[in-house]
Amino acid sequence: MGKKPIVAGNWKMNKHPEEGSSFVDEMQDLLLDIKHVSVIFAPPFTGLFEMNVDPPFYVAAQNCHWENSGAFTGEISVSMIKDCGAKYVIIGHSERRHIFQESDDWINKKLRSVQSSGLSPIFCVGETIEQRESEQTDKVLRSQLEKGLSGINSIEDCVIAYEPVWAIGTGLTANNKQIELAHQTIRDILSSNYKDVEDIHILYGGSVNSSNAEDLIQVTGVDGFLIGGASLDLKSFSSIARTVEMVQEKKI
Ligand code: PGA
Repeated sequence: MGKKPIVAGNWKMNKHPEEGSSFVDEMQDLLLDIKHVSVIFAPPFTGLFEMNVDPPFYVAAQNCHWENSGAFTGEISVSMIKDCGAKYVIIGHSERRHIFQESDDWINKKLRSVQSSGLSPIFCVGETIEQRESEQTDKVLRSQLEKGLSGINSIEDCVIAYEPVWAIGTGLTANNKQIELAHQTIRDILSSNYKDVEDIHILYGGSVNSSNAEDLIQVTGVDGFLIGGASLDLKSFSSIARTVEMVQEKKI
């Protein structure tokens, strides 16, 4: 049987609210019959409130602040995100880590805040090309997971996304063996601190598109995708969700 796979679209700084909400409406119409996949849309903050979804469709924020309220100009708290009807928050995306210098300590605070509000984090980890080439991948994954999850007792509600930095937005995907090994490494690291790690979703992200989705979803340990570029296009995103649905249906 296995878990219900997740297909999540991270729109980054794209799509104005009306554009986003009509995209979501059309996508739900196109995929009215899907049963075996959960689909998540992550619009910019301005679009969060406009998304009108019903399960198996959900909304995610792309970031949050860890405090509930206060003098934090430009920030949005998890309770504000929750008010908009979102169920997930992406934490530690590589663009947050690298462009905005987000530290593991901040990521940890954000993860705790998301958890304590009852929302689910989509916690991103992944190595740079230099780290992969110098055989640091396992070490980097361990460090990001252990620091990010420090003091967190349960990860039942956590989704992990393995996103090699060099595969994000580059058109390069990690090969099947690299993905399988990284997902296994993540599961092994988590298993030393947590129970029932088999039940956790580990998504792959990095240049997933409608042509490679069928192959990638069948890699051992891949429980779905976190998709950037291809999630902006209705045809590509719906076709990826459909492909994952079809592969999952065959398994059942
Ligand atoms: P991409 O982005 O699909 O455009 O490579 C993935 C991501 O940033 O999550």
